Amino acid sequence: MIVYFNSKFLHKDDVKISPFDRAFLFADGAYEALRSYNQKLFRLEDHLKRFEHSLNELSIPFSDFNNLEIIAGELAKKNNINSEYSVYMQISRGISFPRTHHFVNNITPNVFAFVKPIADNRKQVEEGVSVILEKDLRWLRCDIKSTSVLPAVMASQKAFLSGAFEAVLYRNNLITEGSHTSFFAVKNNILYTTPLSNYILNGITRKVVLELCKENQIEFSEENIRTDELKSYDEFFITGTTTEVTPIIKIDDWFVNNGKPGKVTKDIQRLFNFYTKNY
Ligand code: PDD
Repeated sequence: MIVYFNSKFLHKDDVKISPFDRAFLFADGAYEALRSYNQKLFRLEDHLKRFEHSLNELSIPFSDFNNLEIIAGELAKKNNINSEYSVYMQISRGISFPRTHHFVNNITPNVFAFVKPIADNRKQVEEGVSVILEKDLRWLRCDIKSTSVLPAVMASQKAFLSGAFEAVLYRNNLITEGSHTSFFAVKNNILYTTPLSNYILNGITRKVVLELCKENQIEFSEENIRTDELKSYDEFFITGTTTEVTPIIKIDDWFVNNGKPGKVTKDIQRLFNFYTKNY
């Protein structure tokens, strides 16, 4: 696999990173995950804006955003990927020695990126997935897409070990989001999703779904969903760059809608698929 590291395209085994890179010692960095539709990066501007937000909030100096699209395209070419692909881009603060928590401002960030073909998700998108509910143990700046995601990793691993696709997180009895997805509920044909705040990531698929609702006169409300009221909702789904719009058919031991994707969820999927097909 050919990857990108600091202006060079290298075989993945030829990348050399110092153990004093602050991402290695402190998870001191930010990342973005994108994908292509029709070989074109989906909602690139939104991803770059979010990347800029994350880096600004972490005071990591980086401004070369225009190159990122070219780098992704080159990576796809160099890896002979002719199908749709996902892109991972990470910018760490860089190397500082000796190890100190505080940092100085003249460190050069390390930029790393790789692409891979999109995995086939048709089965889960069509049939739906099961999720588990997990306490949200993350920090209070989930709006920053930091590489520091250990609580999400732990929740995701719990889901994986129990055979579920995702861990849906809650804080003080309110659903925040999935470990790597945004969360939606449906009641009486109205969509509900957690309002944007420091408690969740500003999901770009979430944004697209809300745009599609507006354009198609589907009512929605950005308001909190209580864990103790979950059973009053008719349908649930999660969204994300590679997850797209995926129905939830089971939450812990509860088969939602008799274990079948809901009607509104399917309508949203159809709108989303049409939008991405023609992107
Ligand atoms: N995850 N919430 C969290 C915590 C996420 O990590 C993600 C994305 C989302 C969905 O955001 P978007 O629609 O912009 O992909 C919501 C990516 C895919 C990842 O971590 O790899």
